[in-house]
Amino acid sequence: MSVATHPELDGFARNQSLDGLTEPSLRAIAEGREGYTIETARRFLSFQKRIDAELLKHPIITDNAYTAWFEHSRKSHEQIMSFIVQFSVFSNQFLVAQLQKTLNADTLESMRASKEILANEIGVVFNAPGRKTPGSSDTDRHGDPELVSTEGSVDGGVFRFRAAHFEWLLRIAEKLGLRFEELGRRLHGTESTLFFCDELIRLYGNEDYMTSQAASYAVENWAAAGFWDQLVAGLVNYNTQLDSPLPLAFFTWHARIEGQHAQHTQEELEELYFDRDVDEDAFIETGNEMLEGVAAFWNGLDEQRRRIGAI
Ligand SMILES: [Fe+2]
Repeated sequence: MSVATHPELDGFARNQSLDGLTEPSLRAIAEGREGYTIETARRFLSFQKRIDAELLKHPIITDNAYTAWFEHSRKSHEQIMSFIVQFSVFSNQFLVAQLQKTLNADTLESMRASKEILANEIGVVFNAPGRKTPGSSDTDRHGDPELVSTEGSVDGGVFRFRAAHFEWLLRIAEKLGLRFEELGRRLHGTESTLFFCDELIRLYGNEDYMTSQAASYAVENWAAAGFWDQLVAGLVNYNTQLDSPLPLAFFTWHARIEGQHAQHTQEELEELYFDRDVDEDAFIETGNEMLEGVAAFWNGLDEQRRRIGAI
């Protein structure tokens, strides 16, 4: 977690023993904004210690056996195919969870924040200030993840069927010899993949704002923990065995965007804490419940790849 970078805020944090808070929170405290008291800040910092110890050390964040194997070991065509199929089921069901999160938002601001993710997933390219939407005359490249931005807003962005994340995945799948009808739908999901998807819908998309925020914090920390980079490394390695490499932009795009998310996630947690009454035990419990769902997905993939490997 990165902290304040402004010298005057650094000094303020040190004097008040508030090291560890992000810059927006320190600024709000220094300005005396409503709810932003030194006492709440100290309570937050001890809550953060609990989160670090009781949530972020979950084995699926610190020690994911499947992604470690994926990064370093030799993978068969069959193993890659079954991974892509399960990922495609998750990718589709995530839309349901994200829509529920959008519909259950309790402020316009959080509804819009959820819509950003939803609209981008289904194919609205981010409209990044100062950056031209790729205007390639080659229509095949419209929405190409190698070209589209990982920053900006869907507001004013262009919709392209080909920019749907599912279609990016489809392009890898086609190259592996998978047909559209073999992907995406629940009937292709294993029990553990579907358990994860259903937990996402139940917790991340929950009607109760605090439940969905806790699940969201857990999911975002899992996503920022480096699994995208591990998948990219494993696939780059796999490609060296092929005459015609798999297009990896679905994975490299997500690795790029997650790199930017971690700081934002931390700022959101602080904002939540200063803004609302957070039940700390419930937050940690829900976060862990969500991570158990995440773990079911990866551990299910791990069992599947072992089964295939043993054939
Ligand atoms: Fe995505």
